[in-house]
Amino acid sequence: MPTATLLRVPDADALPQSFEIHPFDGPLGAEITGLDLGRPLAQHDFARIVRAHLDHHVLVFRRQRITPQQHVDFSRRFGPLMIHVLHQFHLPGFPEILTVSNVIREGNPIGLGDAGKYWHSDISYKAVPSLGSLLHAQELPSEGGDTLFANMHLAWDTLPSHLRRAVEGRQAVHSYLAKYGQMQKAANWRPTLSPDQLALVKDVVHPVVRTHPETGRKALFVSEGFTTQIIGLPKDESRAVLDELFAHSVRAEHVYRHAWQAHDLVFWDNRSLIHLATGCPAHLARTLYRTTIEGDVPF
Ligand code: SIN
Repeated sequence: MPTATLLRVPDADALPQSFEIHPFDGPLGAEITGLDLGRPLAQHDFARIVRAHLDHHVLVFRRQRITPQQHVDFSRRFGPLMIHVLHQFHLPGFPEILTVSNVIREGNPIGLGDAGKYWHSDISYKAVPSLGSLLHAQELPSEGGDTLFANMHLAWDTLPSHLRRAVEGRQAVHSYLAKYGQMQKAANWRPTLSPDQLALVKDVVHPVVRTHPETGRKALFVSEGFTTQIIGLPKDESRAVLDELFAHSVRAEHVYRHAWQAHDLVFWDNRSLIHLATGCPAHLARTLYRTTIEGDVPF
């Protein structure tokens, strides 16, 4: 399979680290312990991480006391980083980092407080969506705040045949604006988009079933957050099929629930998964920093 999207740049003089990869007993995910991403990464160690990411789709790196610059540097080794359209929530000095936070400081939100409150694959509303995202815990609530991940390869593999027939070879519309107005009304996190921002989030079309560019595995590529319509189906039928696809995708046997620990860095594959932020009580602070790596045009 082609691997052109990965830069795989070795750190000169990096010493190998002795770390362990523990796959979870579930539909996806693995924990990585004993690795310090603040240190230069040897090529062999990087290759193990790339392989584990393809195999498990979510990697949980424990106890990473890394700076925003180290977060950006590590992310960049997998490809160019995407700049989120909501520049209001870029971490100051780091346009590659989106602040995901419910904290209000001096009357102003420091981040996007309702980020990810619906199932989605990051940036699927762009013609070139994301390879993967890296979310680094800064401040965690004592209760709630988990993130759910659903395995879209399993969703495809187990899709009932009437749905397979309905979607094979079809394309669907992905829209950043699909839920934006609704989210804006529900809470006060989302700014009104400027004409320049609107120009960056025009609707796009992607295959309903995509092929992972590196493993060759098929995956469903729709989400309740951004997918609005299957092209070529009457509106009612498209709605009904999408609702069935969404419900099937997030069946319990496809889902891993991540309960965050201090200094976790979680790296997921947006080509294989959708995810959802479950939220936490409003009075408890939750702040994480996210980088997002550009991927390929889905096929
Ligand atoms: C996101 O969708 O990137 C945010 C996920 C989270 O806050 O758990």
